[in-house]
Amino acid sequence: MDIKQLLKDMTLAQKAAQLTQFAAYVLDNTGIEQTGPMQALNVTHEDLHTVGSIFNLNTPEARKAMQEAHMAEDPNHIPMIIMQDVIHGFRTIYPIPLGMAASFDPALVEECAAMAAREAAAFGIDVTFSPMVDLSRDARWGRVMEGAGEDKHLGCVMAQAQVKGYLSEGLQACVKHYAAYGAGEAGRDYNTVDMSETQLRERYLPPYKAAIDAGARFIMPSFNALNGVPSTGNKLLMQQILRKEWGFDGMVVSDYSAVGELMNHGIAEDEADAARLAIEAGCDMEMMTTCFIHSLEKLVADGRITMAQIDERVETVLRMKQELGLFDAPEGHGDPERYRALEVCPEHRAIARKAAERTAVLLKNDGLLPLTDTAKKVAVIGPFADDPGLLGFWSINGRAEETTTILQGIRERLPGAEVRICAGCPADLVTDDESGLQEAVELADWADQVILVLGESGDSSGEGNSRAILELSQAQLALTKLVTAHCNSTAVVLLCGRPLAIPAVDKAAKAILCMWQPGMEGGHAAAALLYGDVAPCGHLPMTFPYVTGQCPISYDTYITARPVSDYTHPEARPYCSRYQDAPVGPLYPFGHGLTYTDFTLTEAKLSAETMTADNAVTASAVLRNTGSRTGTALVQLYTHDVHGSMIRPVRELKDFARVTLAPGEEKTVSFTICEEMLRFETLDQGFASEKGAFEAIIALDSVSGEKLSFRLV
Ligand code: BGC
Repeated sequence: MDIKQLLKDMTLAQKAAQLTQFAAYVLDNTGIEQTGPMQALNVTHEDLHTVGSIFNLNTPEARKAMQEAHMAEDPNHIPMIIMQDVIHGFRTIYPIPLGMAASFDPALVEECAAMAAREAAAFGIDVTFSPMVDLSRDARWGRVMEGAGEDKHLGCVMAQAQVKGYLSEGLQACVKHYAAYGAGEAGRDYNTVDMSETQLRERYLPPYKAAIDAGARFIMPSFNALNGVPSTGNKLLMQQILRKEWGFDGMVVSDYSAVGELMNHGIAEDEADAARLAIEAGCDMEMMTTCFIHSLEKLVADGRITMAQIDERVETVLRMKQELGLFDAPEGHGDPERYRALEVCPEHRAIARKAAERTAVLLKNDGLLPLTDTAKKVAVIGPFADDPGLLGFWSINGRAEETTTILQGIRERLPGAEVRICAGCPADLVTDDESGLQEAVELADWADQVILVLGESGDSSGEGNSRAILELSQAQLALTKLVTAHCNSTAVVLLCGRPLAIPAVDKAAKAILCMWQPGMEGGHAAAALLYGDVAPCGHLPMTFPYVTGQCPISYDTYITARPVSDYTHPEARPYCSRYQDAPVGPLYPFGHGLTYTDFTLTEAKLSAETMTADNAVTASAVLRNTGSRTGTALVQLYTHDVHGSMIRPVRELKDFARVTLAPGEEKTVSFTICEEMLRFETLDQGFASEKGAFEAIIALDSVSGEKLSFRLV
């Protein structure tokens, strides 16, 4: 396709439409009829015939029909790009991304992304609005469920694994939401972010870059304003960093109505102003508002933007269509028949089940788990006991009737037992309705074993779903207290899209298994884990606080001059960095996760006490399975820069390894520490390492482990 010639043939109105993306419902099946929403958008038939992209289609047949109608109607015969939010599965739903990060298993994440891509590509989706790589330390933010949690290194690994998986099956990736969307003030969605450029570059930007390096050709600016400038109109982000420094030449597609929202932000006076700001900043496509369509002609006529600026954006869009192969095959990889054969096929369900099993984190176990499967009377209690909401947010094509609830999973696993259920209390986030407690107590008295399913519903996290209270409702707390008191063998299954503050559950229950929102195979996975068919092996990608007031909280906090750890006597503590009424540290730290055996790490050592830019040092320790069954440990490597030109975090994750050992088996686990791993945003040398003292820590979570000293010379 001769893109330059195409550009010459296009009118300015056609170019504006080419830079616009609508949800599919704006067009009907023929792609040409006016509908209600379209009238509200105030666009013409011609605009619709020539629109650049659509997203969120219902069937593969509709996808095919809309593209065919479009190709016939568009005078330039330019195919549309078809996009969709394929976030944790397309039709086969696996655990939410935060759960996937808890696997610390990039191969698994890649396998799941490839599975989602297979279904989505056969449906006819060209690009997914994923991965979401927004680093987040604030569990109040609902969208933490979409990302990999609080750590930069884990965020980069997970971003790359997802992109690799998508690309392997012909689905392109749109990394989002650029940038720092996860750092909104007070954990409120869409809220302002104010942070130093050092912090931005060092912690928040690397996962976006990692996704691009892995091959993501699309990027979505975030809704938030960053240091006073909304991302959609932010030249520092989109021109300087993205295009100049990173050399990105793919396509920028705005978030939903974000170009129009430049007016709401109060930096654009009208639609024309919003269009100008977005075009100047480098936004190639406007999603679901019509500032480009309404204003580009006037902006050019008034000399406020040039045709060359518009052509640059249109050329990018056309180039991406060429890259996607759409000029040659407007149907993309769409093949309705293949799609029907693939959707929720047994192989895909098996992958979703494996993922649900490997993402569960055993937070606590006082010898209760695994449960014996010979119990005759089992009660599944709690507001989420039979809730298909374990699909989680962003499971648009997932179906409740294809989802195994916890109750169904337990019933299938224990054919010889009588399994009874009661909710005990409502699922509401805030409720003190205790009218169901009596029934729950009676059931707990009757049962040999109780599975108590607590947490939050699938739609309590996700976009727009911030929470100010991470504690369980009064009713769930009362239920926990009573049920654990009435049945000694009570295991808690926690379903959540974010870390919750559950110290009272920790105190009352002997065992807590966090399963996030585990997807359509959640019930089967829960049963297999609780009864020991498989052992839990997930680890926390985000810190669990004692109380909401500790948020934002993360393990890699900066050092202060008065850390609480220096003050061992409570009376000596008033002038240190602490809370009067809550601990400073976590209830469960980043990296924490138990299994059904025990591990020790001993003989930690370094291969040398000094290293140089050319000579790496090796850190190693002996991992031993001291328990009685095979298990998988997550061995984590952290470093700490003891002196820097800027204050440095207490520790930072640099590498990790999942190691499976038989009972009594041991293995030396080694990590290479090279100079590149010690770089950071220095005071005056840019991103560089600084010579001097460092520590390496090999540990099984982010708060333990012996410090090994070395120097970079
Ligand atoms: C979300 C994006 C999503 C888009 C399209 C927006 O509201 O912020 O993450 O990709 O909608 O569905």
